[in-house]
Amino acid sequence: MENLILAGESKSEIYKSLIPQIKSLIEDECDSTANFANISAALKEAFGFWWVGFYIVRPDNNPHGSSLVLGPFQGPIACTRIAYGKGVCGTSWKEAKTIVVPDVDQFPGHIACSSLSRSEIVVPVVREGNVAAVLDIDSSELNTFDDTDRHYLEELMSFVVLR
Ligand code: SME
Repeated sequence: MENLILAGESKSEIYKSLIPQIKSLIEDECDSTANFANISAALKEAFGFWWVGFYIVRPDNNPHGSSLVLGPFQGPIACTRIAYGKGVCGTSWKEAKTIVVPDVDQFPGHIACSSLSRSEIVVPVVREGNVAAVLDIDSSELNTFDDTDRHYLEELMSFVVLR
């Protein structure tokens, strides 16, 4: 196992050098817990985000029949269950699309796991047409995420499910 090599100054250059390394890290491993753990660690190491992790759709005793349950992550402790349609994560699950939140205080229903989180991106992991999990990244700064993050993180999440 080699260390990550992070070349480049711009966000896009860092993603371009990082994503192939993450792909090679996960391509021979079929266990999603192991892969989600290494993806979280690699993104945290590369960008220094406040919180990076996964919530996984699991059966649950509620009207929807399932919830997002906390999976592998890097960062401070976080809420363990998120209902369908709730918060940024539950909305990404419901709409099956990436959500970029420039200022969490402006997102109605945002779930504040940490008061230091200021902006956020949530990218769904889709398997056979259904959302199986979401990647959630929080920043302690406003306006951290944009279409560059959306582009590379969606590519990474599609690789996780399509291989
Ligand atoms: N802010 C998220 C909750 C998860 S934490 O940020 C780790 C949300 O609104 O869904």
